[in-house]
Amino acid sequence: MATILILHGPNLNLLGIREPYLYGHDTLAMLNAKIVSLAKKLAHEVITFQSNAESVLIDRIHQDDSDFFIINPAAFTHTSIALRDALSAVNKPFIEVHLSNIHRREAFRQISYFSDIALGTMTGFGTEGYLLAVRYAHYYLANLTNLTKKEGLYYGSAQDSRAH
Ligand code: DQA
Repeated sequence: MATILILHGPNLNLLGIREPYLYGHDTLAMLNAKIVSLAKKLAHEVITFQSNAESVLIDRIHQDDSDFFIINPAAFTHTSIALRDALSAVNKPFIEVHLSNIHRREAFRQISYFSDIALGTMTGFGTEGYLLAVRYAHYYLANLTNLTKKEGLYYGSAQDSRAH
């Protein structure tokens, strides 16, 4: 049993209303309910957290009370070295998630400050992307943590993602 922190960045509180052709019709509450339900089945605890403020997201990461992060940094994906540094500082494995496929959109969205330090990225699968990320977190926590430690790689660092 592990604790997975789901972090939602700016404007994701408007899911369901906001550009549904890009982000779907589920509200944030509906999305969180789906995540919690799957995590429960896999015997994990989930904390969900949304903020529109960079500093609040950084402070939440600093609380360091979870084993694994799943983060949609939203617009901060393309701007925030500070949020990236917070994830590096706590050195926990994380998956970057985007509802839309950022690579099919404007050029400025194709730059992410997170992808190279994430275990991996889910982009373009809508709310299903979060559920796939939860399944991978479960797999990683059950199978890969010890393996990567045994191989002398740093837990949760970029080296981990190159190991599998
Ligand atoms: C997003 C993509 C970002 O470019 C955008 O700023 C968002 C949402 C996504 O989930 O597709 O707010 O992260």
